[in-house]
Amino acid sequence: MDKENKDKDKDKDKDKDKDKDIKDIKNVIKLFKKHNPSKSEVKELGLTLKMIGKGLFRKAYRVNDLPLILKTPRHGYNHPDYDSEMYHMKQEVERIRDIKKSRRFRPFRRYLPDILYFNKDTGVLLMPEYEKVGNVSRRVVSDILSNLSYDLNDGSGSDLHDENIRYDPTREGYVIIDLGYF
Ligand SMILES: Nc1ncnc2c1ncn2[C@@H]1O[C@H](COP(=O)(O)OP(=O)(O)O)[C@@H](O)[C@H]1O
Ligand SMILES: [Mg+2]
Repeated sequence: MDKENKDKDKDKDKDKDKDKDIKDIKNVIKLFKKHNPSKSEVKELGLTLKMIGKGLFRKAYRVNDLPLILKTPRHGYNHPDYDSEMYHMKQEVERIRDIKKSRRFRPFRRYLPDILYFNKDTGVLLMPEYEKVGNVSRRVVSDILSNLSYDLNDGSGSDLHDENIRYDPTREGYVIIDLGYF
């Protein structure tokens, strides 16, 4: 087989893998919607979690080796000393939903992550896994966004630093994965 055809076959395989991932992700979301597991109950559904990131407030896990992220407060959802984490979590989802509805913030919509599932009683949030961005462009984008959000917030601060910005190949654009303070 010549190289061109081999490459085509590879592309086809990739497409197949992607289709399978989309199907698998849909099934996982269905499981979450049906059982509403807390983070520690996820294993009982036969799913695996691999920790892939940590911020001040949350931990992020990859579910079943899929490009699917589960986020939950770092110290457990109902930890009495970390009320703020639970608050942060609810606030983020509320903000994303508000911005998606708001006319004023319409220009921000395309930078928001997709919330695939959220349960406010368990603090479990599912969103697609977004790709890392190269260092230079990541900083440029984060600079622009943090200034913009600072101004929109009447100067009251912003959390749009470069760790919170990723890339979504399906929309060919950047995504803010963490809207905590914004
Ligand atoms: N959708 C995602 N795709 C890829 N990595 C993610 C995603 N969400 C979170 N992460 C990883 O987890 C880390 C912590 O998540 P983040 O939402 O920023 O929590 P915090 O509010 O604690 O900063 C991120 O810095 C990133 O490394
Ligand atoms: Mg963060």
